[in-house]
Amino acid sequence: MTVVRTPLVVGNWKMNGAFETNRALIEALLAALAQQSLPEIGVCPPFPYLPQIAALLAETPIGWGAQTVSEHRAGAYTGQVSAPMLRDLGCRYVIVGHSERRQYCGETDAQVAAQTMAGLDSGLVPIVCVGESAEQEASGQTLAVIDRQLAPLLLTLAGVADEGASVVIAYEPVWAIGTGKTPTPEGVQAVHAHIRQRLVAAGLVQTRILYGGSVKGSNAAILFALPDVDGGLIGGAALDAQDFSTICTAAMMHAV
Ligand code: PGA
Repeated sequence: MTVVRTPLVVGNWKMNGAFETNRALIEALLAALAQQSLPEIGVCPPFPYLPQIAALLAETPIGWGAQTVSEHRAGAYTGQVSAPMLRDLGCRYVIVGHSERRQYCGETDAQVAAQTMAGLDSGLVPIVCVGESAEQEASGQTLAVIDRQLAPLLLTLAGVADEGASVVIAYEPVWAIGTGKTPTPEGVQAVHAHIRQRLVAAGLVQTRILYGGSVKGSNAAILFALPDVDGGLIGGAALDAQDFSTICTAAMMHAV
């Protein structure tokens, strides 16, 4: 069986944006990407801007999504946003378990697995982030940390292999996020190959693995050429239309 994994590039805007700058960014991005064949692309603005982005991207091939989601469907969870609400807003994607959520909001591996299932149940494509800290990297724990982070997810996904196909994993070394540092291409490939092995063992052969952490227009082509890198999760560079479009073009070059 030939496995086709369409390259995917997702912009994580984090807590950035305003009506005026969002509009300018999306318009510049659409202009930069016009007339090109594109990979699958998504942008994830903060919650309040989802309706604006939905209106700007309707009738375009670019999808949109949220940066987190509640594991609960509805009820007394002040401040939380559910997966059915995100579907109401036309979202295609939801990022879960980003290291900033794990660090600042105390999200656990089990919670991230529950959020992933909530997203899948509502027809969203969850993008599940994993990755080690600088200290963990320095002490050689990278693969053990990733295995620990993936364990409840793979357990939950066992038996729902069809849905597993819509899950995306993003490997984001915490020390590479927003720092301008990236692992060597060999280092990225080694971790991605390890994740691939775990996914395949769980029957998830179609699952895409994105790399995230200081991806820029200047390094995207090298990273996306790696055999187990299926695209990128982009932070800072997603706020620059030119840089983000260069990254999208680089991903397209490696479409199978
Ligand atoms: P960065 O962020 O591209 O700014 O390093 C990536 C992310 O946090 O998803």
